[in-house]
Amino acid sequence: MQHSFDVLVLGSGAAGLSLALRLPESYSIAVICKDVLQENSTNYAQGGIAAVLENDDSFASHVQDTLIAGAGLCDPEAVKFTVENAPESIQWLIGLGINFTRSADQNYHLTREGGHSHRRIIHSADSTGRDLEETLIRATKSKDNIRIFENHVAIDLYKKGDRCLGAYIYNEEKDRVEAFSAGKTVIATGGASRVYLYSSNPSVTSGDGIAMGFRAGCKVENMEFNQFHPTCLYHPLAGAALITEAMRGEGAHLKLPDGTRFMPGFDERAELAPRDIVARAIDHEIKRLGIRHVWLDISHKPADFIKGHFPTIYQKCLDLGIDITTEPIPVVPAAHYTCGGIKVDHNGQTGIDSLYTIGEASCTGLHGANRLASNSLLECLVYAASAARHIVACGENAQRQTVPLWDDSRVDKAREEVLLLHNWEEIRRTMWNYVGIVRSFERLKRAKSRIDLLKAEIQDYYSRHRVNRNFIELRHLIVVAELIVEAALKRDKSVGLHYNIDCPA
Ligand code: FAD
Ligand code: SIN
Repeated sequence: MQHSFDVLVLGSGAAGLSLALRLPESYSIAVICKDVLQENSTNYAQGGIAAVLENDDSFASHVQDTLIAGAGLCDPEAVKFTVENAPESIQWLIGLGINFTRSADQNYHLTREGGHSHRRIIHSADSTGRDLEETLIRATKSKDNIRIFENHVAIDLYKKGDRCLGAYIYNEEKDRVEAFSAGKTVIATGGASRVYLYSSNPSVTSGDGIAMGFRAGCKVENMEFNQFHPTCLYHPLAGAALITEAMRGEGAHLKLPDGTRFMPGFDERAELAPRDIVARAIDHEIKRLGIRHVWLDISHKPADFIKGHFPTIYQKCLDLGIDITTEPIPVVPAAHYTCGGIKVDHNGQTGIDSLYTIGEASCTGLHGANRLASNSLLECLVYAASAARHIVACGENAQRQTVPLWDDSRVDKAREEVLLLHNWEEIRRTMWNYVGIVRSFERLKRAKSRIDLLKAEIQDYYSRHRVNRNFIELRHLIVVAELIVEAALKRDKSVGLHYNIDCPA
């Protein structure tokens, strides 16, 4: 089966849908997602979107906070570009009908998160992502020029010479691989936090786009900078559900089992220090005291204030038997965000002709060694707009070339699918144990030897068996794991999110 479009967008999160909507209606666009449309990190975002929206705030201050969090490794031009384009992106969303929370005076309510020197996070209570994704989906479904392909999993890009012509995509319902040709291809497949055993992310985040781009020859950067969110719920029935940083922004305290606050002893910004500092402090206390979690306590605030600001978290915790208006929440850090990715310029262009990358799969230079809270959705929106502008400026996509049919006649269905599950488990546990919040060369070398072995097994399996979703993701995941370990081994200083006890800061 072959398809042909002007623009092929891989991913239906904030990045992919915004780009599709920013293109003129004269373009035929395919939006591909490997699950249902709304199953992505965007949909689970809580805190909000950072932007300078008040007169007493300034671009200079947002730039400065981003540079400080990035620990000297941001690209200052990319930071300036993103920050200055933020208000336009917010206005665009308001134009689409998003329902941001307002204060009593009817102005938009701006909350505060770690590392921000100003209240500048616009949000929809504590479920900004759901409101954002619903708004984008509603707009996308109203467009006749955008075709949505759910449960379609991208396997590989197809290149001729130095130009990307499209991609091979597995249609899960039909159990077959289809060829998608396009004038321009956009990777918007999100991050890779699922490479870790414990993660705040939904299951789609296996780094597929980063792996496909890398195999196609794109430059991939900063993969050693994996952000661990300090406060994910510790509960056997909750996975690693996020407890938004905005809760600390609104006054919640981190506490030890005896009720004492510990963050003031680690950083003068206490609970609002950047995430790497807070996550490492929690990791330190958990290891020092031999405990399973620490506590996040907002119960000193009025119950109505808590329920008003955090209705989703309040209900979720209550369903699990925790009343956050009267008791603290058990929390641990978990993998949350991939700062690195495919290296791109201000227009989301990769080094490959006709191939773009936007959103969490990209490395624009905005985050450097550590992402400032709520700068991620912003990056998705700003680069979706600039990539769309660039695609339009390139002119009509008349020169589409056909991607040849996929041939899997040589291979058979796997006899023992369970082996794949073993590989998944091994990769994720290895990354958690040896390439986590605190690293050492010994741990990283252990990870490397295990990853090398798993890579060979997966490659061998690929050469003999037909693909399915589980397997395609696994093949992407091992590439991402290898990229992270290699980048971590090369970095000879501890900086930002990369903390190696053998290296000085
Ligand atoms: P995603 O939204 O993850 O979308 C990826 C898409 O790619 C999905 O549609 C998926 O199906 C598709 N895809 C992936 N692989 C394939 C493949 N092989 N084939 C086809 N399709 C594929 N950031 C903020 O700025 N503010 C916040 O408050 C905030 N809160 C967060 C809370 C949580 C719990 C999480 C997990 C993240 C949060 N983040 C937040 C980070 C932010 O949500 C993400 O970085 C951002 O949503 C990424 O958007 P994206 O469009 O790049 O990718
Ligand atoms: C959160 O709400 O704590 C997540 C914000 C982010 O990841 O930017």
